[in-house]
Order: sequence, then structure tokens, then C-alpha cells
Amino acid sequence: MPIKVIVVKDYEELSLRAARHIAKALRAKPNLVLGLATGSTPEGCYRELVRLHQEEGLDFSQVVTFNLDEYLGLPPEHEQSYHYYMRKKLFDHINIRPENTHIPDGLAEDPEAYCQEYEAMIRAAGGIDLQLLGIGRNGHIGFNEPGSPFDSRTRVVKLTETTRRDNARFFRSLEEVPIHAVTMGLATIMEAREILLLASGASKAEAVARAVKGPKTTELPASILQDHANCTFIVDEAAAEGLG
Ligand code: GLP
Repeated sequence: MPIKVIVVKDYEELSLRAARHIAKALRAKPNLVLGLATGSTPEGCYRELVRLHQEEGLDFSQVVTFNLDEYLGLPPEHEQSYHYYMRKKLFDHINIRPENTHIPDGLAEDPEAYCQEYEAMIRAAGGIDLQLLGIGRNGHIGFNEPGSPFDSRTRVVKLTETTRRDNARFFRSLEEVPIHAVTMGLATIMEAREILLLASGASKAEAVARAVKGPKTTELPASILQDHANCTFIVDEAAAEGLG
């Protein structure tokens, strides 16, 4: 199935559309298993989900979540950890049960064994119904950097210099950006029953165009999504530039 692309005017509209999409899925299935992403792109969507909960009673009490990735070596209270991000941006403001939220453990004693456990937890929850994704400038999804095998599962990865530099804006210095991360694999992501990818801004235009129209190649990890049966991209005009 080709990737469905919805082009919206700007970041604000992208955020509202994405939140509405998730809210609709949640109303249809209150015990939705939701895959979550971090980064700056989904922040607006999370803000709107919080508003929908607080003002319109959107109910997360039965929702189960699995995050895509986490930096290796960062404790959950570190301000740049994805654990901290998820609490501050979403979980602290909605009625989700903490025991229903899952984020890869950046401090796992045996990270390899932990990755297999994470896969088992996803399976035990019945698989992911709806996976939210961002996209890196180099086409990464989660932390599946270029070169990641299409059959990859949850594992420890080394971050590319591009990604470390892109994410350095959140840290005090480049040296502080972790070198490794735990990420769901491309095959793990592809097993989600539905995928929703968000991209905003001109810096993402090339990655979006190559993911949607380009050859399927491990050099552009998001291009694997062309093989998914139910994948939608919501992109703003700037990020849609290369789609022609
Ligand atoms: C990060 C995350 C990805 C995210 C991407 C884009 O490194 N691991 O899950 O989608 O890079 O981030 P941003 O939305 O801040 O551009």
C-alpha cells in the first residue's frame, strides 16, 4: 500500500490533526495499545491530547503505551531522558496508569536481554495498534539509523554523528549526548497495525520525499514504511516541499 500523505498548513494544524487521529482511535478502542515517539515534533500533538483529556474527558485509563526508544545510560530522572520527556509532556497530565506505560530502560544491566524482554512485553500486550513516529533528517525512525536492517528488532544501537549533533541542542554540549540508545527495530515498528508519522519544517522535506517516493533502501530507514498496509504521514507544507 502506498503511504497516505496528508499535507497541512503548519505545525499547529499538524498537531491538531495528529491528536484528533489518536483520539478517534482511542474512542473506538478504549484499551488501545499506543506506540509513542519523542522529539520536538510530537510535542504539539501531546499538548492537544492533554487538552482533550482535561477539557473534553478523553479517557486514557485503559490505554497501554510503548515508547520507541531511549538513550542508553540516562537515568529516568535525567531531563533529557525520554522517560522524563514523556512524564512532563504527557503522562503527568492525563489519567494513564503508570504501570501501563513502557519506555525502554536506559539503565538495564543486561541491555541485550532487556531488548528481548521489551519485545515480549509488546507481544504480551497484543501488539501495537497505532504507532506514532517522527522522522530524522537522515530518514531515521525511532533510533533506526541509516543502514539498520529491515528485519531488525529492539536492540542497542550507536547513534550517528548527524543525530547526535541534531539532538545536542537539548544538552549542554555535544559530549553529553549519549553515544548509544535502545530502539524498537524496523521489523518491530512494521508490526504495528497502523502507523502515523509526523514531519514539520523544511529540514525534513528531503527525508519525507525519499521515504514516500524513493527506492526502498536501508539507507533511508523510513522508506520501509512503503510496505506497510496502513501508514499515514501528516506533514506541513514546508516538509511536503519535495513531494511535488
Ligand atoms: C530523535 C528521535 C526520533 C525522532 C527524531 C526527530 O532522535 N529518536 O524518534 O523522531 O529524532 O526528532 P525531532 O522531532 O526533534 O525533529
